[in-house]
Amino acid sequence: MRALVITEKSVKAAKALLATYRSIVECAEIRFDHLVPEEREKALILPSCSDLPLIATARLPKDGGVWKEGEEERIDLLRKAAESGFAFVDLEADQPRSLLRSFVELLSGYGGRLIASFHDFTSFTDERTLFSMVEEAEGLGAIPKAAVMIDGSVSLLAFTRAALKLKERPAERILVAMGSFGVPVRIAYRHFGSMLTFCAPAEKIAAPGQLSAEALAFPYALSRISDKSRLFGIIGNPVLHTRSPEIHNSAFRSIGFDGLYLPFPTDDTVAFMEIARLLEIGGFSVTVPFKEEIIGRLHEVDENVRAIGSCNTVFRRGHEFHGTNTDYDGFLAPLKIRLGKRGGRALMIGSGGAARSVAVALRSLFDSVVVANRTHSRAQRLSEALLGEKGHVCSPEEAGSLGPYRVIVQTTSVGMSPHIDDDPLPSYCFTGDELVYDIIYIPEKTHFLQRAEASGCDIIGGKEMLLGQAERQFELFTGLRYPKDPEHRENF
Ligand code: ATR
Repeated sequence: MRALVITEKSVKAAKALLATYRSIVECAEIRFDHLVPEEREKALILPSCSDLPLIATARLPKDGGVWKEGEEERIDLLRKAAESGFAFVDLEADQPRSLLRSFVELLSGYGGRLIASFHDFTSFTDERTLFSMVEEAEGLGAIPKAAVMIDGSVSLLAFTRAALKLKERPAERILVAMGSFGVPVRIAYRHFGSMLTFCAPAEKIAAPGQLSAEALAFPYALSRISDKSRLFGIIGNPVLHTRSPEIHNSAFRSIGFDGLYLPFPTDDTVAFMEIARLLEIGGFSVTVPFKEEIIGRLHEVDENVRAIGSCNTVFRRGHEFHGTNTDYDGFLAPLKIRLGKRGGRALMIGSGGAARSVAVALRSLFDSVVVANRTHSRAQRLSEALLGEKGHVCSPEEAGSLGPYRVIVQTTSVGMSPHIDDDPLPSYCFTGDELVYDIIYIPEKTHFLQRAEASGCDIIGGKEMLLGQAERQFELFTGLRYPKDPEHRENF
């Protein structure tokens, strides 16, 4: 179940949200602590206004809530909620056992369940507290809910181990992973054995790692996902901004493939590889800063990875993870379509990680490749390592005098949103005959490409490379062709 957390001040606003989100969530939590005091009793009618099962919660400040009034008043209100048709009432697991038991009994008379919740804002490392809390709540007949802080890959690994052990037991439970490293748990909650995941209206997202109800509907389409759906993902740091979940999940849906692709914010690739084994991840994309480091963690990498020194795609064959580099083909495909015959001279701007696959691809098409970069030594190193005799190095200012170029490829981050007016080669005057390719995809047409187009050049935007590399990944992940026209293509 996806549970919408409603933190409105008034019953009217809460009702409006229940109506708006009815079709994309299966449950809602009414946070009584956020309602202004005079609205709280009125909110007891909410179960009769919605066919969604509702959770009544009045959270204390120590657990992340804003309840300021007395404890007696809070318990009294939650008791009334139990009697008013709320499907669940949430009380802290450290309340007296007699109180928790009385709620379990009261709720069972109304067909409801008690959620016994436990919050820990320190990094999750040890499963013992979690297990004892879960056993205690289950012993009382309540649904245990544990909200724990996941602040890195090691913490996510410990949590994954604990969650999978708990999953072997048949009882229902709720597991919430706080913090941005916990995002995989919020999305693939069924795989971690949680009966629900919490989400908020998009405009109410406040904490890192919180997900909107809108995002769980698109790109993740959680209504179609079960704990048997095959998991795929992307590792990086940061990684939550990436478009890859849109590109892969839309394609899964279009062809009816039972898969879920999600971001794994990562700070430790050894821990991540263990998580990938435990969750039986079918494959994953790799982005900055792990494209080099991941190579040493894999069973085998192909020739492209060895030549480029960078791996953006990991796929599973049997129990082993293999690495390849689809940036190379993704970059090359749109260029080959436009280029016609091989040979001549190309200019590449930049010498960072992204430039490596571009350099190897350009080497296969051109007689010479000029590398223009702000830091000369870096360009020199890249050229010697990847271009050999075909490579030449210059400063951005000198690039104009070493032409003409058939193709110019821009690989730096200059011009990327939000700095969309920046130009990586401000002094360069296009002849109008160059084919100009910028691998930045936000914005879709950089200032550099706009300038090239205005001078009469043909241009290629980074989105073609982004889609090209993802399509090849998709084929390695699923063994199936990427669909021609996936759902929601307009969104990515
Ligand atoms: P990526 O892996 O995305 O390519 P990177 O390895 O940090 O990222 O490389 C960024 C590239 O953009 C480099 O070529 C960098 O130039 P330096 O080698 O001189 O650092 C270039 N770059 C980044 N910001 C730049 C700027 N403001 N002006 C010029 N070049 C810049």
